[in-house]
Amino acid sequence: MSTTYGSFPGARPRRLRTTPAMRRMVAETRLHPAELILPAFVREDVTEPVPLESMPGVVQHTRDTLRKAAAEAVAAGVGGIMLFGVPEESKKDAVGTPGTDPDGILQQAIRDVRAEVGDDLVIMSDLCLDEHTDHGHCGVLDAEGRVDNDATLERYAEMARVQADAGVHTVGPSGMMDGQVRVIREALDGAGHQDISILAYTAKYSSAFYGPFREAVGSSLKGDRKTYQQDPANARESLRELELDLAEGADMVMVKPALPYLDILRQIADAVDVPVAAYQISGEYAMVEAAAANGWIDRDRAIMETLTSVRRAGAGMILTYWATEVARRLNRGE
Ligand code: PBG
Repeated sequence: MSTTYGSFPGARPRRLRTTPAMRRMVAETRLHPAELILPAFVREDVTEPVPLESMPGVVQHTRDTLRKAAAEAVAAGVGGIMLFGVPEESKKDAVGTPGTDPDGILQQAIRDVRAEVGDDLVIMSDLCLDEHTDHGHCGVLDAEGRVDNDATLERYAEMARVQADAGVHTVGPSGMMDGQVRVIREALDGAGHQDISILAYTAKYSSAFYGPFREAVGSSLKGDRKTYQQDPANARESLRELELDLAEGADMVMVKPALPYLDILRQIADAVDVPVAAYQISGEYAMVEAAAANGWIDRDRAIMETLTSVRRAGAGMILTYWATEVARRLNRGE
């Protein structure tokens, strides 16, 4: 195709890269604060926020500092917040009772944040048992110690009701149990919560990159989640999960982790007509922070590059621990 004049190239893509203004003008992908969602941890019975060693810059909030973080997110124009509760160790049990206790830490956090920001932020909650069980699995176990899908669904239905009663806008089922979206939709509708939406963790892979999260929620998990989370080797089952989640009533769908699964994100984004989110998870955060702390990469550029790549691959919304920081940078026009 390219015309040549003597030995010189006729087509020069570099012309469109000459100045910052030119590059900005032709950029195909832009980030906006409203599409960022801040995941946040709130821990029961602490009076000071607890820093997370494996996620420098992220803390387990107290109820007070969580409210403050939510207010700051609103001020920065962040779109939503995804809440994770960390109950007191002694309250965890085999069925994850704190997850369905109306006064459990997550429900308190939802009420706190709703009181603080009202409808100015989309308040979302993790709908899963692993933060609340003493064995650390996302569901309840049967007599042989396997995660019991259908018994777990009953617990999820109850969780959906208490989270909705507490004032959440959107629930985020992340446990990868079969049929969870349908059961949660029915539970919400049956309790008069027709307007509460579901952000389904549709393609959720069994990933080593969840490592730091387990510290963040004080997880006591031994073993792994390979019987319910997806095998990193598989792409097509994500489309099957997608089909099921949509049929069961998912309002929005999510791919998780983000960066190692951009191909999945692209396939899902091309296949659906509902909003698609991606979760830039704890290990993705930790990798960048650790390399930057060693002076091995440029932290700010790396953060923007990963988010831009996730956006480019088809995510309309991104859950990221850098949400507020990045929103502020975007507001400054950086
Ligand atoms: C399950 C849940 C997990 C994350 C979000 N929801 C952990 C897991 O599935 O093991 C991980 C988030 C992160 O790593 O940042 N409740």
